[in-house]
This record gives sequence, C-alpha cells and structure tokens, in this order.
Amino acid sequence: MKTYLVTGGFGFIGSNFIRHIMDNRKDVAIINVDKITYAANPGNLAGYSENYKFYKADIADKTGLSKIFLENKVDYVVNFAAESHVDRSIQEPSIFIRTNVEGTLNLLELSMKHNVEKFLQISTDEVYGSLGESGKFSEETPLSPRSPYSASKASADMLVTAFFHTYNMPVLISRCSNNYGPYQFPEKLIPLVAINALNDKEIPLYGDGKNVRDWIYVSDHVKGICLVLEKGKFGEVYNIGGNAEAENIDIIKYILNKLKKPHSLIKYVKDRPGHDRRYAMDFSKINKETGFIPEYNLEKGLDDTIDWYIKNESWWREILSGDYKEYYKKMYENR
Ligand code: NAD
Ligand code: TYD
Repeated sequence: MKTYLVTGGFGFIGSNFIRHIMDNRKDVAIINVDKITYAANPGNLAGYSENYKFYKADIADKTGLSKIFLENKVDYVVNFAAESHVDRSIQEPSIFIRTNVEGTLNLLELSMKHNVEKFLQISTDEVYGSLGESGKFSEETPLSPRSPYSASKASADMLVTAFFHTYNMPVLISRCSNNYGPYQFPEKLIPLVAINALNDKEIPLYGDGKNVRDWIYVSDHVKGICLVLEKGKFGEVYNIGGNAEAENIDIIKYILNKLKKPHSLIKYVKDRPGHDRRYAMDFSKINKETGFIPEYNLEKGLDDTIDWYIKNESWWREILSGDYKEYYKKMYENR
C-alpha cells in the first residue's frame, strides 16, 4: 500500500485524479491537503472515506504542513494545489507567488526531510509562453512565461528541478495543456460558455477570438499523470497534450450549436493583457516512454462536458449564488 499526499484535491483536476485512484486502485491511500479556496468544492469527493483522509491546510504554511508529514508516512507527493486562473493573476499576483512558489518550496523541503519516494509537480504548457502560427512546445523549449500565473508556475518548476540537481531528490514534472471536463470551476472558458449559454447570458470573447489552445479532456490528463508517476524518470519533464487545437471562437460556436443557442450571444470584449496567442504540445516523449495517448477527441470531450453541466445544474448554481457573482461583475462589467 502506497500513501499519496495529494494537494489541491478539492479542485478540478485534483478531484478527478483522486476519484480515478479511489475507484481503480485498492493499493493506494490518499491524503488530500486543500486550503479550500474559492476554487475548491468538498462535494466533488463526497462519499469517499476508505483509504482516504482530508486535511484542511495551506501549503504556504510550513508549520501546518509539517504536522501532516509527521502524522503520516507519505510515499508519493502529487502537487496540484495552485492558484490557477490567469485573469485573477493579472488582478492579484501576490497570492500566486505565495501558493504556487512558496507552497511548492515548502512541499519540496518537507518531502526531502521525510524521504518521500516520488514528488510529482503538476505544471502547465503556459510556462513556455506563446507560439506563433506554427510549431509546438517540446520539453526543450525555453521557459518564457508571460502572465503572473505562468511566471509563478515556471518558478515552481525551476525549484523542483533545482532540488533534483542539488539534493538528488526523486522529482518529476508534468506539463499539460488546457483541461476541460466535469467539475471545472465556471471561471474557465468552457464551463463559462456552457453555463452562460444555458442561462441565455452573453458570452465574453476576448480580443479577436482567434487565440488557440490545445484542449485535453481531464480524464486523459489524469491518465498521463498516472503514467508519469509509474514510468517517469527522475529529474525529467513530460509534456501532456490533447492533440486538439482550436480557436476560442470555434469552441464557443460548437457549444452554442450543441445547446441550440444563437451565435448572437457572443460578445467581443476587451482583450486580456499579455494574452498568449497559441499553445500546442509536442507530447512525443511521454508517448514513447509510457505509451500515453489521449482517448478523447474534442467533439466527444465537449459533448460529454456539456452533458455533465446540463445534468449537474445544482453543482454550478451553488457556485453562481456565492462570491462568484462579485468576481463576474468585477471581471466583465463594462469590459
Ligand atoms: P483549481 O483552481 O480548480 O483547483 C485548485 C485547488 O487547489 C483548489 O481545491 C484550491 O482550494 C487548492 N489550493 C489553492 N491554494 C492552495 C493552498 N495555498 N494550499 C492548499 N490548497 C490550495 O485548479 P485546477 O484547474 O484543478 O489545476 C490543478 C493544477 O493543475 C494546478 O497546479 C494548475 O496549475 C495545473 N494545470 C491546470 C490546467 C488547467 O487547464 N486547468 C492545465 C495544466 C496544468
Ligand atoms: P482560460 O480558460 O482562462 O484558460 P487559459 O487562459 O489558462 O488558457 O481561457 C482559455 C481561452 O479563452 C484564453 O485564450 C482566454 C479565452 N477566454 C475568453 O475569450 N473569454 C473568457 O471569458 C475566458 C474566461 C477566457
């Protein structure tokens, strides 16, 4: 039995990862460490108790975190916990440095002290910066972050790599492209569009709408993470991608068509400052070393995601009735 300390397990990808492990692995125990920020939803993991434990803690608080390592024998650490939204990082960068950089450093130090067997840092393609019309990011692409969010994630990645070279720590880094699927907080593009469309509300489209993202269905990301944990080589970075590039305008039109809503809901709004133009992942390394291949194509992934948001209206209605209202107003009113 291995014990995984998973941080940020009440968020979008973390909860999908824990659910996958709990449903498929009887030989793994999970300790979920989450601060429960606005992005967390404890209901995402309702019903799990066997081989599962939760601690409410902030990874940026080393004293609190230290107690968890003292009380438990941790074998693997998987660090999902982060402030994850680019638009929020533009408004308030400091919390991104605190959680994403200082939090990762605390986890590295404690993992080293307690002889953790594997440390996996969940990172993002955004650390590579922005692509033009051609080319893809490989693991050799120099880091060139352009938002406070991506700068904080790149800083964390560099600390992880430094702990490998300096202390020979057993670390791994996975960098994934844009995720979508069940339980994604409505501030991100795909759930925002689905929910606004279901409510016949305007859909804010930044700039000319032609920015490109390489979309991956969340269960494919989770599969990639499991393969990196199982087969990855220490000190290495693994890109994970969905092989599904699309312009934002085309994603929005697809969702509107599926929901039989008019394209007139689309409202072009002021662009995001420093808006990265295009992301695309070359994931041939993880494919060669672990056999990873995404199962979902974009249409199937979007269809399943839209169905999930239709069936789980109470999940997102609860979010919409809380602090999110203020956030939405601040971000989109008069834009
Ligand atoms: P999310 O915002 O949905 O969830 C983040 C979770 O971390 C929440 O449960 C939150 O409460 C928790 N958290 C935040 N600050 C914390 C702190 N200081 N201490 C403890 N817990 C804290 O994020 P997500 O979309 O699930 O992303 C998870 C990870 O994957 C992040 O590291 C992100 O950078 C990375 N990633 C995300 C994407 C994507 O498309 N969403 C793509 C690639 C990589
Ligand atoms: P987002 O989901 O915030 O992910 P990221 O910025 O990390 O890639 O945004 C995805 C794309 O959608 C990005 O190009 C910005 C754009 N976008 C909009 O056009 N309107 C919106 O309201 C949001 C949230 C995003």
